[in-house]
Amino acid sequence: MNIITCLVLNRPYNVSKVICEYLKENVRSGSGKYIMYPRFIMMMIDDQFKDIPKDAKDVLGLRNMTSETITRLT
Ligand SMILES: *[C@@H]1O[C@H](CO)[C@@H](O)[C@H](O)[C@H]1NC(C)=O
Ligand SMILES: *[C@@H]1O[C@H](CO)[C@@H](O)[C@H](O)[C@H]1NC(C)=O
Repeated sequence: MNIITCLVLNRPYNVSKVICEYLKENVRSGSGKYIMYPRFIMMMIDDQFKDIPKDAKDVLGLRNMTSETITRLT
């Protein structure tokens, strides 16, 4: 809810930090639920190992928030 509110109001919000905190919490609890953030984990792997071959259809591009994006969210 906080993330969506900040996106709609165009306020800065560190989404990576929130996801990372939940991910660390899940790893510490030993629940194995860190797998619930596969795209985030993939981004970390991509950052560390830049030349892993991958299917172009699986690559998510980064986009800036625009009025069109906000319209889609609301
Ligand atoms: C977001 O949080 C992470 C983890 O605390 C930090 O490394 C990063 O610099 C922060 N990004 C911004 C834009 O503040
Ligand atoms: C997002 O906007 C910033 C500032 O205008 C720009 O530097 C950056 O390249 C943009 N990123 C993308 C993915 O379009």
